[in-house]
Amino acid sequence: MDYLKIQGTPSLSGTIKISGAKNASLPLIAMCILAKNKVKINNLPDVVDIKTLLKLLSNLGSECSFGVNEVVIDTSMMHETKATYEIVKTMRASILVLCPILARFGHCEVSLPGGCAIGQRPIDLHLKALEKMGAVIEIKAGYVEAKAPKGLKGCEIIFDKITVTGTANIVMAAALADGVTTIVNAAREPEVVQLCEILNDSGITIEGIGTAVLKIQGNGGKLIDIQPFSIIPDRIEAGTYLCAGAITNSELTLTDVEPKHLDAVLAKLEEMGFSFTTTSNTITIHPTDEIKPVKIITQEYPAFPTDMQAQFMALATQANGTSVIEERLFENRFMHVSELQRMGAEISLNGHIATVNGKTELSGTDVMATDLRASSALVLAGLIAKGETDVHRIYHLDRGYDALEMKLKNAGANVQRLKE
Ligand code: UD1
Repeated sequence: MDYLKIQGTPSLSGTIKISGAKNASLPLIAMCILAKNKVKINNLPDVVDIKTLLKLLSNLGSECSFGVNEVVIDTSMMHETKATYEIVKTMRASILVLCPILARFGHCEVSLPGGCAIGQRPIDLHLKALEKMGAVIEIKAGYVEAKAPKGLKGCEIIFDKITVTGTANIVMAAALADGVTTIVNAAREPEVVQLCEILNDSGITIEGIGTAVLKIQGNGGKLIDIQPFSIIPDRIEAGTYLCAGAITNSELTLTDVEPKHLDAVLAKLEEMGFSFTTTSNTITIHPTDEIKPVKIITQEYPAFPTDMQAQFMALATQANGTSVIEERLFENRFMHVSELQRMGAEISLNGHIATVNGKTELSGTDVMATDLRASSALVLAGLIAKGETDVHRIYHLDRGYDALEMKLKNAGANVQRLKE
């Protein structure tokens, strides 16, 4: 198993190129199941979660040919409709194949994803919506078995809660359904927007893209023609490197980024005292005289993302004063707290609210990564800790950060990947 050895660095500098978004790539790869042609995807990040989903597609009979940051997916030979436990257990987002397989073949089996480190994460809303579209769903021996031999029917879906992969899944089901599907309380994340835009460009009329009400005109079951496209920049990767600039109080430029997807993150960094220069696809963060404390509530897009909560907690340890961070989306997304405490952070937890007293000097030690974003918070803490920090179990990081140690090294950090 690999781990990262990080030596505290006084400052970072230079530029970091942002990769394509993992969370946009996943539904877009699943969408290829709806295609009648070979689909070329550009700006694909080189991360393990993407390889996992492509492996799942290959297991189902598709052909995936790789280039550098690109893939061509041919699902014309796809014949299997069962996503087995072996793959789904390694990545919950595998559930994204449920709707496209069901829409195309009229049946699908997907292993139930189960809980994960950050919370229960049920898929009840995906299933309830599919049932409303006419699917018959049974849960058998840990698998969801969905059938719709006569195809899915458009209808009105009102999501009880905003769900990102739930919205993406139902949009894909609706694309091949008979008639119009209206999704009320849809997720508005840029990753959902890109999925809708590509489907729209492929002949599926979707109204309300980027709003909470999506109206999808289904095509009655015909496979679609999808032209080559490029994945949008990863706003969470970008946010993480902005925090790297902020925690080391350095000037750092991100390239190949979409600043407007980062409004909530930039607003919080501004409240903390940082300033920025932005162009259409770059952001430069400038150092501040004093890092100020902040109040953060995680919510659905366009509000502050839960996927940036852990990184801001690491940053808050360097603010002068008390920061308050409230996690509203996941019930157990504070696994990084105890690791940050071991490095000297003063954090108290009360239910879903963390109070961080700064500024504290952090000391390097052995820490354990527990989930993807928690891991990046530990890397950020390691950047400014006194001495050496060894971040173990970085397979979590590899799931979602493309070339993390290379990118940080190029910006002047002292980071090494070693074997346990
Ligand atoms: C996606 C992102 C993840 C991010 C999260 C919230 C991907 C691959 N993952 O996860 O990085 O942290 O959005 O922005 O894009 N819920 C239910 N029932 C359901 C579905 C969801 O109760 O059927 C609940 C969840 O437990 C959670 C909330 O709704 O409390 C939001 O979850 P959801 O938006 O579905 O998260 P994911 O799509 O799994």
